[in-house]
Amino acid sequence: MPFIKWDDKYLIGFNIIDDAQKKFVAGVNELHDAVKANRGNEVFIRFIYWLADYVSKSLKHEENIMEQHGYPDIDVHISEHEMFTREINDYFFDFETGVKLHVDEILEFLEKWVKSHLMEFDQEFGAFLVAKGVVPRFKKLL
Ligand SMILES: [Fe+2]
Repeated sequence: MPFIKWDDKYLIGFNIIDDAQKKFVAGVNELHDAVKANRGNEVFIRFIYWLADYVSKSLKHEENIMEQHGYPDIDVHISEHEMFTREINDYFFDFETGVKLHVDEILEFLEKWVKSHLMEFDQEFGAFLVAKGVVPRFKKLL
């Protein structure tokens, strides 16, 4: 049983964002499994670099799509991304400077992000894209 069970309810219908979210959930699950198998350190190093890259590219990409389509709640959404990015950057900084990290705490934070941000904020954006006809309504039929 994965730590975070992927559910198609997380989809917003915009492929490039959906692919990034799926990879994000898969990465968090891989880290969780590695921690349980006492391979946490090895996987964490890869994961933290990937995560730093994810926040700097994928979230920005999402924001660009919002801007492009005139999403009215863009400011609130971006400030959520910024809060998340700050936290990840802090973890990354601690990692780079040799501060001991608590992986369980990080996993909990990432799980919360999926349940709150992907489920609420990204879904609202997805509904906007559907209403505007930018993406099809296919995800609701799954
Ligand atoms: Fe978002």
